[in-house]
Amino acid sequence: MKVLVIGAGNMGLTYAEAMSKSKQLKKRNVMILDSSPEKILSLKKISHFDVFENLEDCLPQADLVFIAVKPYHCEDLFAKMRPLINKGQIVISIMAGVTIQTMQDALGIQKVVRAMPNLPAQVGKGVTSFIPSKEVSRIELLTVESLLDTTGKSIKVSSENYIDASTGISGSGPAYVFYFMQSMMEAALKMGFSANDSKVLVSQTFDGAVELFNQSDLSPSSWMNKVASKGGTTRAALDSMEDNNVNELIKEAAYAAFDRAVELGKQ
Ligand SMILES: NC(=O)c1ccc[n+]([C@@H]2O[C@H](COP(=O)([O-])OP(=O)(O)OC[C@H]3O[C@@H](n4cnc5c(N)ncnc54)[C@H](OP(=O)(O)O)[C@@H]3O)[C@@H](O)[C@H]2O)c1
Repeated sequence: MKVLVIGAGNMGLTYAEAMSKSKQLKKRNVMILDSSPEKILSLKKISHFDVFENLEDCLPQADLVFIAVKPYHCEDLFAKMRPLINKGQIVISIMAGVTIQTMQDALGIQKVVRAMPNLPAQVGKGVTSFIPSKEVSRIELLTVESLLDTTGKSIKVSSENYIDASTGISGSGPAYVFYFMQSMMEAALKMGFSANDSKVLVSQTFDGAVELFNQSDLSPSSWMNKVASKGGTTRAALDSMEDNNVNELIKEAAYAAFDRAVELGKQ
């Protein structure tokens, strides 16, 4: 099997690296195409992949095409791909807001998969939601799923609405975590800790809490109750968050991202 990754940016390179380590593929089975001559030149020097600048030289050889360009580049890209693509090829797109129907119409093929990854894919801890068109067979789907899993975990969703919804939870989610970390580090600095100590205190707290959560069946609120005791320090912090409606504000923020994903999809 040969995979062509289109767009050698953050995400494209992350997936190319991860997929090339999978059981199904070897490094030589991953091809990369980018439109930037400088990027192609540097990739040819440092990467172990076959790097291309023309679709004609790589698209016909691919069984699976992984599109990782910015959504505003897709119209131009699809027009160039259309005369070269064949109906047996599967296209996976991680472009935000680009629907299955748009891809099918623009490319003139039926087998497409729309996926939404997130940034921790770069360290193998990503989560990708995805939905295939009904023309993708069960066996093909297993291959797609195992390739997406090379960057972490994946979940198959039942409608494209959930792709937009997962943008609001996991796609944009790492930024919410960083927002929380930033606030806690600023509080630590204000309390007099050094920048380095603030970083260690906060990052180890996040890491440890997530590990505890993952190793148990308890919900986050059960864990909160385990840490907090009546009249204690944690209860004072949680009460302050409740008084300031932080819970509702976080949900509102996730919905703002969800709504924006839907809006971008319509443009
Ligand atoms: N980053 C994330 O956390 C994240 C999360 C979920 C989904 N996504 C999606 O992932 C996609 C890629 O994001 P990214 O951050 O990796 O983008 P990026 O760093 O900008 O990489 C895209 C690359 O594709 C190249 N390109 C543009 N048009 C092309 C064409 N027609 N043929 C070949 N290459 C082309 C770009 O070249 P130029 O620089 O010369 O334009 C650039 O090198 C986006 O659609 C985004 O919605 C990203």
